[in-house]
Amino acid sequence: MSLRPILIHPDPRLKKVAEPVARVTPEIEALADDMLATMYDAPGIGLAGPQVGVLQRIFVMDASREPDAEPRPMVLLNPEIDWSSEEQNTYDEGCLSIPEQYAEVTRPKQVRMRWLGLDGKTHTEEFDGLWATCAQHELDHLNGMLFIDHISAIKRQMITRRMVKLKRERARA
Ligand code: NI
Repeated sequence: MSLRPILIHPDPRLKKVAEPVARVTPEIEALADDMLATMYDAPGIGLAGPQVGVLQRIFVMDASREPDAEPRPMVLLNPEIDWSSEEQNTYDEGCLSIPEQYAEVTRPKQVRMRWLGLDGKTHTEEFDGLWATCAQHELDHLNGMLFIDHISAIKRQMITRRMVKLKRERARA
């Protein structure tokens, strides 16, 4: 298991639509392990394939953030939303590819997602609250979208300029 570098916006790989995972292979299992380790290390509650430069439809998440909550590492392959609630929810979202920048994003409060698990079986689950927000944010990544694509152009440009500056500083360091 190893930590993988996380791509920082703007990066063309974060704007691409990822390819479906054809089947569960040892490579996919190793990728999932690395992605979970990278997510927990960051720390974050979700991480998608494109964020580590892998343009495949895979994301990991664990939104069990309450201090006493049991960790619940999840790996979702080829996820799809088959139902969303009309009720909406607004969260101050962040992203490991856009460090230290946050913005309010409104999304359906609940979604039912279907995906292929590492066990090779199809899973279905209804997510609510932070889990639902996280699942939708990660699914966006697989379609080349970031949370800043849900906010005003002015705020998006401001955040993008900060990221360009951050990348320049990191490159120099
Ligand atoms: Ni993200």
